[in-house]
Amino acid sequence: METFDAISKRASVREYLNKPVPRDVLEQLIDAGRRAPSARAVEPWEFVAVTERSTLDKLGEMISTGLFLKQATACIVVFCSDTKYYLEDGAAATENILLAATDLGLGTCWIAGDKKEYCEAVAKFFGVPEHLKLISLISAGWPTKEVKQRKRRQVKDVLHWERY
Ligand SMILES: Cc1cc2nc3c(=O)[nH]c(=O)nc-3n(C[C@H](O)[C@H](O)[C@H](O)COP(=O)(O)O)c2cc1C
Repeated sequence: METFDAISKRASVREYLNKPVPRDVLEQLIDAGRRAPSARAVEPWEFVAVTERSTLDKLGEMISTGLFLKQATACIVVFCSDTKYYLEDGAAATENILLAATDLGLGTCWIAGDKKEYCEAVAKFFGVPEHLKLISLISAGWPTKEVKQRKRRQVKDVLHWERY
């Protein structure tokens, strides 16, 4: 798939088939994540890849806006060291993973991490060191139906040439 195809086809998917996501596919996604740009090239990220049913169910219970994790067959949890630009860096890595997943035919959904009330609980659950901040959780699995991108604001409505 061409890059622009993946960008145009990516959409949040919250329903998944009961079919595992192979380990090498998850490794490919992490490979995409770690290739994101980061301020001063610090690469502050750490990724936890989850495939165990009991852990996915537990996350679905912990995360109010991520109930569908109970259906997902994988989840990538993105943490970053508490650097000045941790959030931008972590968001860039998250988007890289979403696009790579689209390219591989996987459905994903970005689930909020930073600023959420469950941040500490999630960090504690995974036993990550204190300097790491939760950026996002990416639910993943094989979509149950064709993925369609939602209607979006058009280029002419968002582009301002030279001045606003
Ligand atoms: C920072 C961020 C946090 C998000 N958090 C959640 C979330 O907690 N739960 C959820 O179902 N979707 C979440 N989303 C997905 C958005 O709802 C989704 O991207 C938006 O509705 C646009 O739809 P699309 O992804 O299909 O284009 C989040 C997206 C972003 C960028």
